[in-house]
Amino acid sequence: MQSEYPRAMKPEVLLREIEPGDLPLFFEHQRDPVAVALVVFRSRERDEFDQHWAGILADDSSLKRTIVADGQIAGHIASFGRDGQREIGYWIDRTLWGRGIATAAVSAFLCLEQTRPLYAGVAPHNVGSMRVLQKCGFTLCKRAIDQEPEAAGESHLLLSLAAPDANEGGIS
Ligand SMILES: CC(C)(COP(=O)(O)OP(=O)(O)OC[C@H]1O[C@@H](n2cnc3c(N)ncnc32)[C@H](O)[C@@H]1OP(=O)(O)O)[C@@H](O)C(=O)NCCC(=O)NCCS
Repeated sequence: MQSEYPRAMKPEVLLREIEPGDLPLFFEHQRDPVAVALVVFRSRERDEFDQHWAGILADDSSLKRTIVADGQIAGHIASFGRDGQREIGYWIDRTLWGRGIATAAVSAFLCLEQTRPLYAGVAPHNVGSMRVLQKCGFTLCKRAIDQEPEAAGESHLLLSLAAPDANEGGIS
């Protein structure tokens, strides 16, 4: 992807615990129509969003962090259990796309979330996310994720990060 941001000026990316004050920004991120079209995800209205995030923050089995780039809140990243497997998801503020933030955040998160295999579901047209995951060692699985309740009617490709030496049926 073309970016106006000079390649040499990669931001410093840190992960920290999510604070309640981060949520209004996350709410705006998931309402951005351009980003929403990438993930084929249905935006949540305020009440539903608040309820959803209250559940995430209260759920000790999910690992979640705010992504901070050069001191600015850039998005969030999380892992959670679904259908007996561990999945990862992330979201970056569109004004900050194309600066390597997602790649740095996923790389850092993989040191915290050590479950392997680790999975990610990606809409087939979300080439940016696919690239982020592949740069972090994920490979395409042979099977796809069937329609999810929030997937607005489209199947997702499934990528996985295997344990070293494991064969997860990835396509290289
Ligand atoms: C997908 C997303 C996380 C990428 O974030 P980002 O910080 O811009 O990603 P990076 O800057 O780390 O880019 C990583 C690579 O993907 C490429 N890339 C990023 N967006 C791209 C796009 N839209 N089209 C093509 N390539 C893209 C970058 O060029 C880079 O590749 P390179 O190193 O070979 O040049 C961001 O667009 C986003 O938050 N989208 C909405 C939510 C989402 O899609 N979440 C993931 C759900 S699976």
